[in-house]
Amino acid sequence: MLRAEGLTRTYRLPRRSLWAPPGRRYALRGVDLALAEGGALGVVGESGAGKSTLIRLLLGLDRADGGTVRYRDREVRPGPARGLTWFRREVQIVLQDPMSSLDPRARVRDIVAEPLECLGVAGDHDARVDEVLAAVGLDPDTRDRYPHEFSGGQRQRVAIARALAPAPRVLVADEPVSALDVSVRAQILDLLGDLKTRLGLSLVLVSHDLGVVQHLCDEVLVLKAGEAVESGPTARVLGDPGHAYTRALLAAVPTLPAPRGSVV
Ligand SMILES: Nc1ncnc2c1ncn2[C@@H]1O[C@H](COP(=O)(O)OP(=O)(O)O)[C@@H](O)[C@H]1O
Ligand SMILES: [Mg+2]
Repeated sequence: MLRAEGLTRTYRLPRRSLWAPPGRRYALRGVDLALAEGGALGVVGESGAGKSTLIRLLLGLDRADGGTVRYRDREVRPGPARGLTWFRREVQIVLQDPMSSLDPRARVRDIVAEPLECLGVAGDHDARVDEVLAAVGLDPDTRDRYPHEFSGGQRQRVAIARALAPAPRVLVADEPVSALDVSVRAQILDLLGDLKTRLGLSLVLVSHDLGVVQHLCDEVLVLKAGEAVESGPTARVLGDPGHAYTRALLAAVPTLPAPRGSVV
């Protein structure tokens, strides 16, 4: 459904002297990725491994130095926003920190309706806002409130509602629970899992925490210093890791999500 081939991205290093040519550093080097329809793909790796760079390229938010991204056999080319409207209706993103990804001066209803406006989605936007708020477990009366009136977990629910508003087929979540209290992480992960099942969504879930990926993903891609060191079914890759780096990540699993149904 969503496929990337040979994605490469370099960043310029600071010049070492006025005359030396600037060096370049690979943030990502030749990474392939494939998300199956209805599947959940986890991207794991330690901080700085290139996960967010990969996601930006995958979403057409940044231009690759090499490689291609295709969604259902149509190429995703970064460029003027208008050119990617078709893609934004299909693939939406949830970021790590809902406090900085939500406009503090906007009411929830305007935040959630924003992609509907931007993407020119037809229909009753108010009704759609109520629908997606319900889908993420928020009361309809939260529509008139502001982000600061919510807890971190609830704010992430608002961010998920906004992503769901245009009825995408794919949700990409970059460290969606990393900024949240440990006690609410499991609830947000359960919500993502439920939405996947209920709406038939496909997921790309990025995390430095293998516990998070284990919880939700059937496939996993392990990134190390910009390169894919291992990929395949989660049970195999995490159950019998072929690479020392994956084993090290496994050994470092900091917190497994709390069991289902724990209290906020
Ligand atoms: N805009 C940028 N300019 C220079 N270097 C960057 C930029 N964005 C990311 N990098 C570098 O690219 C590498 C990968 O970063 P990132 O994709 O954010 O990793 P992750 O999300 O896995 O923590 C890091 O070494 C980071 O310092
Ligand atoms: Mg990141």
